[in-house]
Amino acid sequence: MDLLIKNGKIVTASETFIADIAVNNEKIVQIGQNLEIESKKVVDASGKYVLPGAIDVHTHLAMPFGGTVSADGYGAGTRAAACGGTTTVFDFALQDFNEPMVDVIKRRDALCAPEAAVDYAFHIGVKDIHGDLIDSIKDAVEYGVPSFKVFMVYDFRISDGDFYQLLEKSKEYNAIISVHAENNEIVNTLVKKYLSEGKVSPWYHYMSRPEFVEGEADLRAIQWAKATGAKLYIVHLANKQGVEAVTKAKEEGYPIYAETCPHYLEFTNEVYKREDGRNFVCSPPIKGEESRQALWEAIKRGDIDTIATDHCPFLQSEKDWGINDFTKIPNGCAGIENMYPYMLDKANRGILSFNKVVELCSTNPAKIFGCQEKGSLAVGKDADIVIYDPNKDFTITCENMHSDYDHTIWEGITLHGYPVQTYSRGKLVYDNGKFVGEYGWGKFIKRKLT
Ligand code: URP
Ligand code: ZN
Ligand code: ZN
Repeated sequence: MDLLIKNGKIVTASETFIADIAVNNEKIVQIGQNLEIESKKVVDASGKYVLPGAIDVHTHLAMPFGGTVSADGYGAGTRAAACGGTTTVFDFALQDFNEPMVDVIKRRDALCAPEAAVDYAFHIGVKDIHGDLIDSIKDAVEYGVPSFKVFMVYDFRISDGDFYQLLEKSKEYNAIISVHAENNEIVNTLVKKYLSEGKVSPWYHYMSRPEFVEGEADLRAIQWAKATGAKLYIVHLANKQGVEAVTKAKEEGYPIYAETCPHYLEFTNEVYKREDGRNFVCSPPIKGEESRQALWEAIKRGDIDTIATDHCPFLQSEKDWGINDFTKIPNGCAGIENMYPYMLDKANRGILSFNKVVELCSTNPAKIFGCQEKGSLAVGKDADIVIYDPNKDFTITCENMHSDYDHTIWEGITLHGYPVQTYSRGKLVYDNGKFVGEYGWGKFIKRKLT
């Protein structure tokens, strides 16, 4: 045996029990009490939780965006993921115009494979489906990438008609479409209005993309998914109206899924009034307290399916481009190392159960996006394992993170409990504050939706 983790409190989405886990050839091979097995390495996890590694299905690594490139490349991003207990990272590979879908994956995989410290998968960010390109979706599904994302905003948004066609095709080929939902026309109109009035502070980033701008787009996207019967996944849901629409669609039996991010659960739009408000600029913006509460309630009801980070950090000097004009601030914040510890802190404080956090951060992402080998601690699954000390307090600072960014919106937040070890397919990649993994270890995960 390669690894034996003994006496830990094992958590799955449905159960918690004390047992040993045996790992061989990168897989979990046995789970049971008092396993008497010879092993090259034995770890005593008494008094600790043993959890499946988190799966972050929303990251933007080395992403060209906002006039620059996001600050974490594939090496830094996956290193930070490992140090926060995340053992699989999904990145958005943005299509170039005229580019067939499988070429998008191969182009980004050539950059990611030599650097990745944990396993990874891609969603394709679709820009162009003209002519035969739409049928290249089928090739991507067969290649192991059955998930596509559309943006209703930004200069790489697609038209409503193309979005609708993608929904139809995704149903035919058993794929899932994710959407960044905001009303582009209204955003542009409000941006113009505020700039013309000299209203240039980060608060006007929020004011030009308030609750209804996101909620209205959620409603439209859901309406089209219902009409086609396609699977729709709403990324970074941040507003109450959208939450209500997701709840209704689920009650009606439609395959509509929703993700939210830790920053929408922790902060409110008040952050845009802070002196460092530009550092919190992301889209959709962080909303008011009513929306924050609605997100927490939806998590507890089961209407939010996943938590992911939307990790897209920029350097302070780049965020500073917008000191006198909020439209010049590159959109995005850091979170890849903070998601699992943040959510586990909520479990440790009794706000959610540990099982619920495992479901949101690992089991549901694996199920929704077709990672058969991941998402749970069970015999036959990849040995992606986190050992969590519920008694270790940890204060987040930029210095004790493992990214390449130079500031974090999470600065100074203290978490009760923290991961102490992360294993990626049985290999120790994080040990008590230190990255001990290897660049190039991470594997491309081919997926199939059930
Ligand atoms: O502000 C954000 N979220 N930046 C990354 C791109 C996106 O919209 O997901
Ligand atoms: Zn987005
Ligand atoms: Zn994103």
